[in-house]
Amino acid sequence: MIDIAFTRAELPKSGALALLLGEDGGLTGLAAALDAALDGGLGRAMAAAAFKGKRGQSATLLAPGAGLDRVVLVGLGKSAELTAHQAEIAGAKAVAALMRDEAAAIGADGLGAAMLAHVALGARLRRYRFDKYRTTMKEEQKPKLVKLRILAGDEAAAGTAYQPLAALAAGVELTRDLVSEPANVLFPAEMADRTKALRTLGVKVEIFDRRDMEKLGFGALLGVAMGSDCEPRMVVMSWLGASDPEGTSKAKKGKIAPKDPIVFVGKGVTFDTGGISIKPAGGMEDMKWDMAGAGTVIGLMAALAGRKAKVDAIGLVGLVENMPSGTAQRPGDVVKSASGQTIEVLNTDAEGRLVLADVLWYAQDRFKPRFMVDLATLTGAIIVALGNENAGLFANDEALAQNLLDAAKATGEGLWRMPLGEAYDKMIDCDIADMKNIGGGRAGGSITAAQFLQRFVNKVPWAHLDIAGMAWAGKDGAVAPKGATGFGVRLLDRLVADHYEH
Ligand code: BES
Ligand code: MN
Ligand code: ZN
Repeated sequence: MIDIAFTRAELPKSGALALLLGEDGGLTGLAAALDAALDGGLGRAMAAAAFKGKRGQSATLLAPGAGLDRVVLVGLGKSAELTAHQAEIAGAKAVAALMRDEAAAIGADGLGAAMLAHVALGARLRRYRFDKYRTTMKEEQKPKLVKLRILAGDEAAAGTAYQPLAALAAGVELTRDLVSEPANVLFPAEMADRTKALRTLGVKVEIFDRRDMEKLGFGALLGVAMGSDCEPRMVVMSWLGASDPEGTSKAKKGKIAPKDPIVFVGKGVTFDTGGISIKPAGGMEDMKWDMAGAGTVIGLMAALAGRKAKVDAIGLVGLVENMPSGTAQRPGDVVKSASGQTIEVLNTDAEGRLVLADVLWYAQDRFKPRFMVDLATLTGAIIVALGNENAGLFANDEALAQNLLDAAKATGEGLWRMPLGEAYDKMIDCDIADMKNIGGGRAGGSITAAQFLQRFVNKVPWAHLDIAGMAWAGKDGAVAPKGATGFGVRLLDRLVADHYEH
């Protein structure tokens, strides 16, 4: 975590400074003051580095004088073209360069309050670390930056604009923490317990155990849980920011009913060995993050409640561990889902859809939502199709799909629309049950998975995001260090803010 403060735009007398400079501004404000303090040294350095403030450009000046250890220049491009996400990337770039400094500031006095808030968001997201298990790391390896000043023209307005974004950042950080945890620490009951922290934000948290789910007829989810010694859970989180804007205890105690809520559903397989259809050893450790869909839903609920979003939103997560054992379900087993439909489990590694089938059904049955969006690290096939640049978007509703694509553009969290259709649906028809849990071969693997989910969705507008390629990054990204990305929290927060808050 990093502590961010907006302060007056005065040239720091020591430490490190990152200056965010546009392509068309000339040297004004802080940049002009620095140039003067360096006797024209900033202008000369910019010329020597061919730094023109173009978007993506950066340069570092070591011990430039005026008491400063370092000045990092980050280009913002043309000011008319600057978007909120570009501002985030610039803030993130600055922080990546300042990570090892104790006293650091970002100078962006040319930007308005809203853009400055996004600079701060990018800075905070890029500074994230998950190092709680690094007990022998040397001091000099650790990032020193814990307090960042952002030098603003109007520091009060920037601080106000940052408040909701700080709540959003906290949500992303929560998601990243959950996704990063190893599966021996974060098993279903532990993950459910951690959602209780959302109660302090005014969220109602209901936790369902095995017996509760047996009563609801969750045969598909419970079949996956059968092989594990870890007890499964479902968590329902309600933030009623439209019906009860202050998040009073009334809503928390269930005395206020959600009205036309929007619903988010997450796959939470805390570890996916594949079950009896066991995965190969190489890379299996990645399957600790097979709960990323659920982690995103939890972080999103924290963000919405944290900024008191004016919407009734429900988040549901299905939490299980998929293990092979003497009590595990077998290929060929037939299970009965909460919807009443039966499923032949031909591959126990296609477990995410089994979990989501019951939770999606329950969500639409209980909440009669305006729409449902589910998130899941559902298929390896979506990585084959889209790589690590876009999540797969499947939807039965054009307006919802378009709103999601717009939010993806705005936040830089990429989505690419994939098809659904009858011919694909046929591929999961089955001789001995209502459907099978895999298509025939490998063809269209992500689509048959989505078709499977759609069989548990009635006439509700619904979208499915297959985030298998996006939840975890092997290398540093624009606003996320390598590791858990928190993908989807910013995207869905934006969807809500732009279309569903009144
Ligand atoms: N959790 C996996 C999908 C996955 C793979 C996520 C790689 C992230 C990285 C999912 O449960 C799974 O095993 N899917 C199978 C489906 C197949 C058996 C039809 C797959 O993708 O191979
Ligand atoms: Mn699997
Ligand atoms: Zn899985």
